[in-house]
Amino acid sequence: ATSGLVDRWNRSATDLRISLTERCNLRCTYCMPAEGLPTKPAAALMQADEVVRMSHIAVSLLGVRQLRFTGGEPLLRADLASIIAACAALEPRPEVSLTTNAIGLSSRAAGLAAAGLDRINVSLDTVHAATFLEVTRRPFLDRVLDGIEKAAEAGLGPIKINAVLLRGVNDGEAAELLAWCLERGYQLRFIEQMPLDADHTWSRSDMVTATEIRARVSERFTLTPHDAPRDGAPAELFRVFDRSGIELGTVGIIASVSEPFCADCRRTRLTADGRVRSCLFSHTETDLLTPMRAGASDAEVADLWREAMWGKPAGHGLDNPDFVQPARSMSAIGG
Ligand code: GTP
Ligand code: 5AD
Ligand code: SF4
Repeated sequence: ATSGLVDRWNRSATDLRISLTERCNLRCTYCMPAEGLPTKPAAALMQADEVVRMSHIAVSLLGVRQLRFTGGEPLLRADLASIIAACAALEPRPEVSLTTNAIGLSSRAAGLAAAGLDRINVSLDTVHAATFLEVTRRPFLDRVLDGIEKAAEAGLGPIKINAVLLRGVNDGEAAELLAWCLERGYQLRFIEQMPLDADHTWSRSDMVTATEIRARVSERFTLTPHDAPRDGAPAELFRVFDRSGIELGTVGIIASVSEPFCADCRRTRLTADGRVRSCLFSHTETDLLTPMRAGASDAEVADLWREAMWGKPAGHGLDNPDFVQPARSMSAIGG
């Protein structure tokens, strides 16, 4: 068996997102409860060698080309650089990237780049300290900004910034945040909020939509569609011009809710406790870590993984009348 991670809808997952921890040092309202989540014992989580073995199986037997480490906050793992170094040494070499809040990155960016990290995406919803506190419930904006700057210096670019817009909180700052990113050469992507919050307060009618985001940004900039092929990427790209017609860069909009891209999905995930989660919105998971620890061979783990992927849902189904929000919130799934 040499086939990849194919599902019954004929999609092939070549992009693997591995969560390294459910813990986080922020408490973003759209992702985590204020009190945090109960911590799992360390033994329940994949250890560094297990993460590397899963990655090896994915890359050498299942056709995975891109590895992205997420969390929770992946920088909370002290062994992150060694995991990245081992994964960057796999053949064929996968692209290795990180999705992070950038706290603590300033002192680690150079080391992670040296270990083989190719690029990072940073979650940043505002450049105002008061708004940052409201969104994340923590006063760490300065650390985040410092982390991003050091990452850019360490060559971890092109840096993408992910911003979730929340009505009445940071939606009025959209154009300003874009200006801030364009000045620094970061690619901003605005993200529609999905119902993955721990508090289950998401409502479709309250969500800031892609259409609305475009309108807000267009109050200050001119956007035109980008002609680069979308290629299964979640973000729809736009070229950004100022009013005198000077091109300033690009911006992305990730319209997971109003314009789902599930039909072209190339991703799959491993949770921090070593379960295949074929879709963000899956209601079932397949444990690979327990069989691995019980002595399963690489080929056996690969077979379990293929089988889990075959059952991947066609899409998130948010518009179905019987849609039910998954029990795990974003930080426990892996963003
Ligand atoms: P690159 O484009 O390769 O840089 O990465 P990415 O955009 O796939 O990764 P990132 O971790 O930055 O995720 C950005 C956003 O995409 C997230 O905030 C989610 O809103 C959305 N996203 C990530 N994974 C999924 C997914 O599996 N399904 C859906 N619907 N949205 C996702
Ligand atoms: N909806 C959309 N995006 C979310 N993220 C976290 N929670 C949600 C949600 N409920 C985003 C973060 C991070 C990315 C991995 O996921 O902004 O950048
Ligand atoms: Fe893929 Fe599921 Fe995300 Fe849709 S919701 S893009 S199918 S992982």
